[in-house]
Amino acid sequence: MTRKNMRNKTAEEITADVLRTFENTADPRLKQVMQSLVKHLHAFVEDVRPTTQEWLDALEFLKDTGKYCDDTRNEFILLCDTLGVSILIDLINNGKAEGATESTLLGPVHRFGAPELPHGADIAAGSQDGIPTVVKCRVLDLGRNPVADALIDVWQANGDGLYDSQIPELDGKMDCRGRFRSDEGGRFFFRTVRPKFYSVPVDGSVGRMLRAVNRHSMRPSHIHFMINANGYESVTTHIFDANDSHLEGGDTTFAVKQSLIRPFVLRDKPDDETKRMGIDSAYCLVDLEFVLQAS
Ligand SMILES: [Fe+2]
Repeated sequence: MTRKNMRNKTAEEITADVLRTFENTADPRLKQVMQSLVKHLHAFVEDVRPTTQEWLDALEFLKDTGKYCDDTRNEFILLCDTLGVSILIDLINNGKAEGATESTLLGPVHRFGAPELPHGADIAAGSQDGIPTVVKCRVLDLGRNPVADALIDVWQANGDGLYDSQIPELDGKMDCRGRFRSDEGGRFFFRTVRPKFYSVPVDGSVGRMLRAVNRHSMRPSHIHFMINANGYESVTTHIFDANDSHLEGGDTTFAVKQSLIRPFVLRDKPDDETKRMGIDSAYCLVDLEFVLQAS
């Protein structure tokens, strides 16, 4: 059967047709998400007016992004990080009370199952280079009372700016990672190496994007922390080295917040406690407080 007076639909009509197909979605949140996605995606296409080849290239880019994902690397997280989407998600979801430690990105290289270590342990035992560094921390509540038995996941790049997953010689072994529990005073401390600034991985699709748009790929040096304690909001954050000149050039993942920039203080010689941690030379001391808000 043929219809008379059939005409091609306009872009607006096509968008309206697609939106209508989601009207019977039982889950209201899913309906909202899908309709908003269609609206914005159609608006993007109308704005950019890609050629067919450009659209196929974009789909190939996403396919390539998937190829660079495995258990130790997630190129989609990196893509969201470098497009500023991850930090927007953080901003929406992690508004903390005044005085609580601010959150920032999880990043693409967190690994579950880092070893739980005693206070004072060296998380960077597999790293040859880098300034020995002692990180002393206290976990507090908003009233500055200690939070005991918090579980703190720590991970960082080594003194060469590399994560363990980027070092073939480690053959999948973890380095510069560990988990600690705070004591009755909310304290924990560990030995490491001063992390070096680094470039996000640029051998995948994100690197191709950054080169194409003439953007740098650098991240200022930092240590990642994820803190969980019963009765408190968990916080995933970084501490940035205040002396790193790469803070000036901007973080390619937009993750720096002023309150997370802390001094990494060089000390000429170790005190007794530092000697007990096996450090007999100049070292770097980082003193931190993490403040949790009740859940
Ligand atoms: Fe990092």
